[in-house]
Amino acid sequence: MLHRVTSPPARTTLLTGIGLLATQDDALGEIENAALVIEDERIAWIGSTADAPAADSCVDLAGRCVLPGFVDSHAHLVFAGDRAAEFAARMTGTAYSAGGIRSTVAATREASDEALRANLARLAAELRAAGVTTFECKSGYGLDTATEERSVRLAAEQTSEVTYLGAHVVPAGIERGEYVDLVCGEMLTTCAPHARWVDAFCEQGAFDVDESRAVLTAGKAAGLLPRLHANQLTAGGGVRLAVELDAASADHCTHLRPSDIDALANSSTVATLLPLVEFSTRSPYPDARGLLDAGATVALATDCNPGSGFSTSMPLAIALAVREMRMTPAEAVHAATAGGADALRRNDIGRLAVGQRADLVVLDAPSYVHLAYRPGVPLIHQTWINGKPA
Ligand code: NIG
Ligand code: FE
Repeated sequence: MLHRVTSPPARTTLLTGIGLLATQDDALGEIENAALVIEDERIAWIGSTADAPAADSCVDLAGRCVLPGFVDSHAHLVFAGDRAAEFAARMTGTAYSAGGIRSTVAATREASDEALRANLARLAAELRAAGVTTFECKSGYGLDTATEERSVRLAAEQTSEVTYLGAHVVPAGIERGEYVDLVCGEMLTTCAPHARWVDAFCEQGAFDVDESRAVLTAGKAAGLLPRLHANQLTAGGGVRLAVELDAASADHCTHLRPSDIDALANSSTVATLLPLVEFSTRSPYPDARGLLDAGATVALATDCNPGSGFSTSMPLAIALAVREMRMTPAEAVHAATAGGADALRRNDIGRLAVGQRADLVVLDAPSYVHLAYRPGVPLIHQTWINGKPA
């Protein structure tokens, strides 16, 4: 009998030759000529290449820049159908409105589980290729109990950051009070076991402040954590409601009053900015400078969805944040990593330090500035998730 000698799988991996390691950790900051050791799914050591310890295997990154993996804290990936014609009409002057959601709802209700699963998997793969190592995924294109349940269940196959968004718009064929009761009642009870978060679209044409408060409060009572679509199309009361309820995040923040900026700056609610939406709806960009200068925590996310912005590109979101919103490249990268982690109330991702999850991105560039300096160029050399190349 032949006995083959095999070595045990490597437990530690040394990544060396890192030209610039932008940890996003306050204490570690940015390290040139860096190395790090991954042990199983965590980071075990960080320092300079010259001091690097031995490991079971070693990868030389030849001067490339390494960042924490991007954390996309806002995405709508469970849907069917296509709204390219709506986008084209916008580019010739038609305004974006919340009502377009209903056409995606019709297509989603008709789609099979397999079709929804395949679309979701394709978009998740796009996100990974764009350097995203954790993403949030919302329901909200079912808007009846069965299809919302299907949506959160399918999302949970891909991510632990699942959001119940029954309160996306009031669907056709039901009176609004009755629909809000359904979202706060049977639909919530059915969806909650698959979700971590509850969200509402607090906006003209969707849900007002009192309706949104009712949905988030019911969600909290069912054990979900609140986040909110706020101030996307108008300077309404969404941001103030998010702060009132200690939501993890107020998302969009496109139309802010000075008092909204103050409220966010004095809260633990993250302002999640979604510049791919402003790009795709040709809207003014949010006041990132005002938020940052006031001391608010800012996150950047894709908001990938078939209506207001159909992009999975965190690098493009970073480039827009720098070019259009006057964030520095360092601020934009921080918002896309540590900011996203804060918006998901996660302390194991978004920053590289000993004990953190080994989720990281290797850029085909010597510095993260290239993400904005070379817009549209695929710069993701490699993505590591849980200590393994993805
Ligand atoms: O985040 N604002 C609400 N929901 C999505 C858009 C949904 C759609 O138009 O299909 C958003 O922009
Ligand atoms: Fe959204």
